[in-house]
Amino acid sequence: MLKGSARAHTNIALIKYWGKANEELIIPMNNSLSLTLDAFYTETTVIFSEDLTADTFYLDDSLQDEKSTEKVSRFLDLVRKMATCPLFAEVKSYNHVPYAAGLASSSSGLAALAAACNQALQLDLSDRDLSRLARRGSGSACRSIFPGFVEWQKGNSDETSFAEVVPSNGWENELAMLFILINDQEKDVSSRDGMRRTVETSAFYEGWLQTTPQDLASAKIAIHAQDFNKLGSIAENNALKMHGTTLAAVPPFTYWSPDSLKAMQAVRKMRAAGIPCYFTMDAGPNVKVLCLKKDAEKIKAKLRDYFATDQLVTAFSGPGITYL
Ligand code: ADP
Ligand code: DP6
Ligand code: CO
Repeated sequence: MLKGSARAHTNIALIKYWGKANEELIIPMNNSLSLTLDAFYTETTVIFSEDLTADTFYLDDSLQDEKSTEKVSRFLDLVRKMATCPLFAEVKSYNHVPYAAGLASSSSGLAALAAACNQALQLDLSDRDLSRLARRGSGSACRSIFPGFVEWQKGNSDETSFAEVVPSNGWENELAMLFILINDQEKDVSSRDGMRRTVETSAFYEGWLQTTPQDLASAKIAIHAQDFNKLGSIAENNALKMHGTTLAAVPPFTYWSPDSLKAMQAVRKMRAAGIPCYFTMDAGPNVKVLCLKKDAEKIKAKLRDYFATDQLVTAFSGPGITYL
């Protein structure tokens, strides 16, 4: 019996990954930049054993159906190949993050699975190679191997596409991200399907591709200079551009709900009142507010004018992969 256990935290992109150049290897169209968070995470244990006659996948103690197990199996096939191991596996995972709701469960989920397999099969992967492996499960998962600010270098092959830490002199510890939980139910359009449809059909995708490298370069300069307003405004603009592309897809779609707009408006209002804060959104209706740690409580109190207390969750910079 071969057993491994790991914890991975979610990450939220400030410069988004949106579109694949290679679907099978999950090579992205553009570099992305994220912040790994402390508040949401996944813990996964994998056991490869001769006693098993098929892969099984439990999520939060409930046995998953064929379709969801199949996705995990496809990932297990990759590590079985790497380790020349023929054994089936039992995967038990606990998500301390809502599932498939645009809160990045695939980033922590697949990073934790990759690391658990690394340990179980004694693959002895470096962090970079673990990041490459996690990427094959879900693109954003390659960034959850690392703490704090992380950049995913898109590369142009399996070997050259991986994430790495963006040095920031510890500045990430002065920041916070407030989550406004608008809907924690499973989204209608998965990130995977949403970005594919956008790449294939959106007239705005070209504009996304042409401007995002500059956003990323400017974001890194802002991190280096510890310039919060610069980083926040680039991130907010980058998220709006990403969401703009979905409106021009055929058929069109949006991850926004009326309450997402309410949250954006609240952020703009606080900013107009002199409190530095900026929003970002992923493939789901929930809104994340980037702010300075010192302002987090004040901003949360103001958000209570618009949202219930249990809809607001505070997150800070979080750690990379941990073996359990
Ligand atoms: P999210 O916004 O939550 O990342 P995605 O559409 O990107 O939503 O991904 C959801 C998918 O991530 C699920 O369908 C499932 O395949 C995968 N996933 C989520 N949590 C786990 C987990 N703990 N273990 C394995 N896979 C997971
Ligand atoms: C909008 O990594 O979830 O959150 O690679 O197909 O599994 P797959 O998609 P995923 O996409 C994340 C998209 C995003 C932006 C981001 O996290 O960079
Ligand atoms: Co995801």
